[in-house]
Amino acid sequence: MRSLSAAALLLAACSGQTTDTDTTTTETPADAVTFDQIGPIYEARCVACHQEGSIAPFRLDNYEDAKMWASASAAATASRSMPPFLVVGDGSCGDFEDSQWLTDEEIELISDWATDGALEGEGYDFTLPETPSLPGDAVRVSTPEFVPEIVGGAKAEFDEYRCFAADIPTDKDTFLTGYEVFPGNEAVVHHVIGLPVVMEDLGWDKKQTNAEIIAAMSDPERDGWPCFEGAGEGVSTGGEVVSWAPGQGAVEYPEGHGIRIPVGAKMVFQVHYNLVDEDTRGQSDQTFVDLRLEDEVDEEMYVTLPDLFLGGVDGVPESIPAGQADAEITYSMPMEWLVPGFLSPNIVGVLPHMHERGTQMSIALRHADKTETCVADVPNWDFNWQRIYMYDGPVPFSAADSLEVTCTYDTSGDTEPILPGWGTQNEMCLPGLLITIDGDLF
Ligand code: HEC
Repeated sequence: MRSLSAAALLLAACSGQTTDTDTTTTETPADAVTFDQIGPIYEARCVACHQEGSIAPFRLDNYEDAKMWASASAAATASRSMPPFLVVGDGSCGDFEDSQWLTDEEIELISDWATDGALEGEGYDFTLPETPSLPGDAVRVSTPEFVPEIVGGAKAEFDEYRCFAADIPTDKDTFLTGYEVFPGNEAVVHHVIGLPVVMEDLGWDKKQTNAEIIAAMSDPERDGWPCFEGAGEGVSTGGEVVSWAPGQGAVEYPEGHGIRIPVGAKMVFQVHYNLVDEDTRGQSDQTFVDLRLEDEVDEEMYVTLPDLFLGGVDGVPESIPAGQADAEITYSMPMEWLVPGFLSPNIVGVLPHMHERGTQMSIALRHADKTETCVADVPNWDFNWQRIYMYDGPVPFSAADSLEVTCTYDTSGDTEPILPGWGTQNEMCLPGLLITIDGDLF
């Protein structure tokens, strides 16, 4: 993969020197790739973000802009950093719903197009994609009108991560079955995560309540509180139940499935604002979120966030060694820690999670007969693209199985071992799972 992307870069750089030839008068060689072949790929996989007013810093929805970015696009697609879909999505490790993974043929075509001089061809007319909307009744909540500011530092060079709590108007437990996020200002909203938080519950330190921890982080001058990690450092949550990135549209959980939202919980939204484009600085955003809440569901989905590294479990390393380009943390977790043996459970979705030093993650189920089922493989972790990946269908497992987890980190810039923790200076190795259980619990 590495050598391929380097080759693509090189080739693309060479082709850049010939781009001032006038393509309208130049004969197009019969077998040269033209934008007629590239346009449909970009329309399906790129322009939701790479269009006027969306999150990406440049457009790819017309030939002129796409040509300017041809060699960079060849390199970004060859390394699979674009489009951002972090789990291997070609079916070789889990079958994911709505995989954004390009085929090898598509990647080669983009590379050949750049190499052949990024020719226009007949001229491709884009139809900008319409995102599907959420069917059924939903409750609308929102973040306040907020002007993000650059926090700065290595982790947030042009960014701010801010959390806001929204009330959920209900007097009993309900189930979230789908949601749709409407960013007010798509040019600055990079991602939105929603986590249910019961304010009276104790935080991770088991000393203060979530409400007290949040109050201590809040600032009377500005709405919300800083929260690079989850709902803020130390706040205990019901896990990530909403996750949105540009171009996504409505999300519906599988038919009849829902996640319990306990009565009295608030929905905390973590919004990642990106201000790399200077024109966006000083602009405000107010993001609306439709939550589809139902009284009953056929299948309750459970969000589990196991992390034996964070948990300090015996036999798991206590820290990540410093000064290594690929330091590894590996552990094996008995699935009976998540579900009792008499149940028939399934994995329906996965949320790989590490912090900024993470580079790769692999998650697999090992069965009693020593065979394995690949759950998810993340070849190039990127902290900025967090999301839940839903499977095409349930992946059954047994309490006798174990979950084999390997996280890889680049600690070459560190001189001290990295300890596990919720803070940005710490690391995690968290294979979040969405689980359902066949049949009734009681
Ligand atoms: C979900 C939104 C999204 C999609 C889909 C997407 N991009 Fe991007 N792209 C971005 C953002 C945002 C950036 C700015 C850098 C960043 O934040 O990662 C970017 C940056 C880039 C860059 C700059 C170089 C780099 O790698 O950082 C290239 C080239 C690129 N995208 C090409 C593409 C192509 C080609 C496609 C489709 C095959 C695509 N992108 C799909 C959001 C997207």
